[in-house]
Amino acid sequence: MQAVSVQEHIGGQLGRLCHALGMNPATPAELLTDLLGPHGSRPLSKPPAWPSDVADDNSPVEFSVAWNRTEPPSLRILAEVVDAAPGVHANMAAAYDFLDRQTARHGLRTDRLDAVRDLFASASPDAVFALWCSLVFRSGRHPEFKVYFNPEAQGVSRSPSLVAEALGRLGLAASYRTMLDRAVRPGELGRLDRLSFFALDLHDGPQSRVKLYISHHDVHPRDAARAAAVVDEIHAAEVAEFCALAGRVGLFTARPLVSSYTLTEGVTRPTGYSVYVPIRSYVGDDREARERVLELMNCYELDHTLLDRAIDAVAQRPLDQGVGLIAHVALRLGRPRPGLTVYFSTEAYGVAAPTHLAA
Ligand code: TRP
Repeated sequence: MQAVSVQEHIGGQLGRLCHALGMNPATPAELLTDLLGPHGSRPLSKPPAWPSDVADDNSPVEFSVAWNRTEPPSLRILAEVVDAAPGVHANMAAAYDFLDRQTARHGLRTDRLDAVRDLFASASPDAVFALWCSLVFRSGRHPEFKVYFNPEAQGVSRSPSLVAEALGRLGLAASYRTMLDRAVRPGELGRLDRLSFFALDLHDGPQSRVKLYISHHDVHPRDAARAAAVVDEIHAAEVAEFCALAGRVGLFTARPLVSSYTLTEGVTRPTGYSVYVPIRSYVGDDREARERVLELMNCYELDHTLLDRAIDAVAQRPLDQGVGLIAHVALRLGRPRPGLTVYFSTEAYGVAAPTHLAA
């Protein structure tokens, strides 16, 4: 019998996800092959070539499906491009090669990337990562690309100034200052509140965004509400309620809640907010995670008929036989498309045993 390869496992999931969401799988499949590079043909029986932090099992890929009320859901892939000789710098170079190929093909917008990339070039070799990529597929549209830089690439202590420099170059210094003043708990920057990702959309147009992510360790839902209140027109109590419904705990200690802020030029405060709940650390198994996500989708009047089809596309085991297939659930508020996003692990390299915490 032939051993299953990384490409067969993850590519199979991607093909089934496209089918479930009514999308043409051709471009997503091609892009996945390019992302996986030389490791696609690696048998899953071998350990991962690089211990990627994209997913708990060190798989370099994570899927997500983003629902909103007005359009069909979109499918997204978060990936770490892993070089043939893996390492933080080698992977970053391989990611830039990937992006160069996509720029030639899909005409990516790279001006913002070019303006800041030197800042992340001196990543420490023992950083968790330097650069990740993501792809967004909306029905009937060209794929969109994003990059995620690691603000802690030169260490935690340098992250605030690294991000300040990057955002300054992009004309976003004022929003950054407002965000730090209002969203970070006093004295906790680089401690309990960490700058975790700095993201750039690589497409043109009014919805092309810069986002900054903060991980809040040991937080109450009300702290997330405080973090969200920085953004105008956001109902902060709704954020607290979402976290409470998704996590069912009063204090998030197992894994941090993550906030993301959309930063826009010409204004002094962030314009969009999302909160990500690492639901896998707050459920006993994926059956419970699914039930919570369904409930949340119902609260937001989102069509959940595709949730089970997406789960079936990815899952290779009964939902109560593990935890972490549903890794995060996120609430997106403000422009451009409010809604809910569900993140799915490939579980290519392993399944975490159920914990039945809540039993
Ligand atoms: N695996 C990492 C984590 O859980 C990074 C990550 C992947 C992540 N997808 C995410 C973080 C979605 C927040 C939201 O932290």
